[in-house]
Amino acid sequence: MAVAPAPPSGDPVLTPGGAPGGDEGRPPGFPRRHGVLHCRTHDLEELAERFGTPLYVYDGDGIRERVQAFQAAFRELDFLLAYSVKANGNLAVLNRIGALGGGADIVSLGELHRALQAGIPAERIVFAGVGKTVEEMEGALRAGILAFHVESEGELDSLERVAAEEGRPAPVGIRVNPDILVNTPHEYTRTGHAASKFGVAVEDAIRLYRRAHASPHLEVRGVDVHIGSQILDVEPYLEALDAVLAMVDRLASEGIGMGYLDLGGGFGVAYGGEEGLPLQELAREVVGRLRGRGLRLLVEPGRSVVGEAGVLLTRVLHTKVAGGKTFVITDGGMTELLRPSHYGGWHFITPVRTREGAPVGPVDVVGPVCESGDFLALNRELPLPLSGDLLAVATAGAYGFSMASNYNARRRPAEVLVEGDAVHLVRHRETLDDLIRGEEIPPPATL
Ligand code: LLP
Repeated sequence: MAVAPAPPSGDPVLTPGGAPGGDEGRPPGFPRRHGVLHCRTHDLEELAERFGTPLYVYDGDGIRERVQAFQAAFRELDFLLAYSVKANGNLAVLNRIGALGGGADIVSLGELHRALQAGIPAERIVFAGVGKTVEEMEGALRAGILAFHVESEGELDSLERVAAEEGRPAPVGIRVNPDILVNTPHEYTRTGHAASKFGVAVEDAIRLYRRAHASPHLEVRGVDVHIGSQILDVEPYLEALDAVLAMVDRLASEGIGMGYLDLGGGFGVAYGGEEGLPLQELAREVVGRLRGRGLRLLVEPGRSVVGEAGVLLTRVLHTKVAGGKTFVITDGGMTELLRPSHYGGWHFITPVRTREGAPVGPVDVVGPVCESGDFLALNRELPLPLSGDLLAVATAGAYGFSMASNYNARRRPAEVLVEGDAVHLVRHRETLDDLIRGEEIPPPATL
């Protein structure tokens, strides 16, 4: 195979082109019409014009279809989709999921507030997390959530005290750590192995269930397991399920019964070319194992509900050639979408408008933040855009806005929800005053 000579330093590494930037990897719901990318029937250039950039655009119909796909796959069982709020906690998104019968998996009082404000009933909310505070326990107990997913003995002690003081028993599920190491794309998203901070080993969980069962202040409701995120295979879920079912049977023989089994989230999606987790296959196996047991099934998907249903629109500010590299500098970066920088996450990127004949070559798509780690893509084959062009970063509906920050005193972007013919601005772009809200300058120091 011929090896192309290295380009002279300072020259762009581009070949004459015309390739449209390749649309394989573009998620469903974002068709290209007359060369312009759309969200369903809505022209993304127009949305960017109207609402500014960087901008998150969510395909509301796509979110609904994904929730309904879960509900259909598990319809044989008493089923609750407890959407993982951390993936995208926008009130409108939560509201729509709640209206479809969904609940919420939360990890903080803030997420409880969001879920309740969005209209999700408390009895459809489960509360996970290794570090719940007394304030959070009180708040969630008063709200009347479905269950606390307890992750340590210390937490169970605390919860028992809070429940005794509040004079109402706390509903409990133990989050079991089945000691399964899943090969997710990044070590940060593996949670089911013994050495992770999450959950309680099976033997310890049994002890905690006995304690909870015996306490007048605690009420055993179910069991939870969540082994990681962006999992593409069915097998690790079945391994986890079998381990949990064996424990459930052991406890049942002692007279400790469970109302539900929560299989967690983590169902993988397509970021670029790969197939997402085969939901039908998973459902077939899970339903087969749970049929006739009288256990309600919960799942806690986040990414697989909203990930592919969102794009980040960002405008090219400048292009620049340096050190043999071509940089495409955009108005969005790690402050809007942290995943590439934090996990080496790969997101499909495509020009919103196809530019015929543009030279194609490897470029670094970088943001304006003062960090070398601020990028959306490295060494990506893209038609070279011009300043003012729009790029769409795909599969950004999950862990996009929810991980956005104000670093460099940047205003977090607006969010738009598209539903049929309607376009709703569901979060305004932050203002300069939003950035300093809550801060105070004390009187001059007297020395
Ligand atoms: N349940 C629990 C207990 C979790 O910890 C998580 C995610 C989920 C459900 C939802 O997982 P999902 O279905 O969205 O994969 N920021 C990372 C992902 C971190 C996931 C944390 N926990 C990312 O951008 O890839």
